[in-house]
Amino acid sequence: MRRAILLTVTAMLLGGVAGAQEAAAPSTEAPAVDPAAGLAAWQDVYAVFSHPRCANCHVEDDHPRWSGAHYGETRIHAFNVMRGADGSGFGNPGLRCTTCHFDSNSNVLHGPPGAPGWHLAPVEMVWFGKSSPEICAQIKDPGRNGGRTISEVAEHVRDDALVGWGWAPGPGREPAPRSAEETFAALERWNAAGAPCPAE
Ligand code: HEC
Ligand code: HEC
Repeated sequence: MRRAILLTVTAMLLGGVAGAQEAAAPSTEAPAVDPAAGLAAWQDVYAVFSHPRCANCHVEDDHPRWSGAHYGETRIHAFNVMRGADGSGFGNPGLRCTTCHFDSNSNVLHGPPGAPGWHLAPVEMVWFGKSSPEICAQIKDPGRNGGRTISEVAEHVRDDALVGWGWAPGPGREPAPRSAEETFAALERWNAAGAPCPAE
């Protein structure tokens, strides 16, 4: 009698495990490395990074850009604003970014936007005018991303004040697509899928 119960319990347990496996199999969760899912996740990341709200500060030369929603309308920042002779990105002495940009946005249309520590990204982190494969390769290169792992890049996107500004850019400016949290998640999905880059 006891033995029969034991067998029944064992069978139920085994059945339970098998059932769980069956239930897991058709789930939509991506396998450990899925290049197609990785490329789709990268597309979501690229849509954000290449958006003017982000790319206008990630330039190769000495000039921040300003623009409407599209590169076509983008111009070099007025007032002869420069990166700064010291390369810091905070501007030249006498015309620092913080002369006009404060810790929060001006509420006036065409007034200077603001976030704590407003300055240009270092030249090696250039996205402005770069293609998707170029930005992709550079984002996972610690020599060009501030010495970060991909997870650390994702955390920077989720937590940094200048990045966060891209989704709350003040009156008259189109925000970057989606949100900081969703871009963080897309970077994590891309990383989990082996961080593939598109061919073109
Ligand atoms: C006001 C200028 C400014 C804006 C706007 C800006 N960034 Fe940056 N970004 C910087 C600076 C400065 C750094 C360098 C900070 C560091 O390395 O600690 C940086 C670094 C980064 C990095 C880490 C380095 C790398 O290349 O991986 C990421 C990721 C990033 N920014 C994402 C974004 C995203 C996404 C947006 C838009 C939603 C954005 N940034 C908007 C100034 C800006
Ligand atoms: C003399 C004042 C002044 C200085 C100095 C200045 N800015 Fe600006 N900046 C502005 C104003 C005003 C705007 C808003 C323009 C508009 O919306 O029409 C602006 C807008 C921007 C934008 C938003 C562009 C967009 O379309 O999203 C960025 C990025 C920017 N500035 C970066 C910088 C950086 C980096 C520095 C320092 C190297 C700097 N600015 C120095 C006045 C200034």
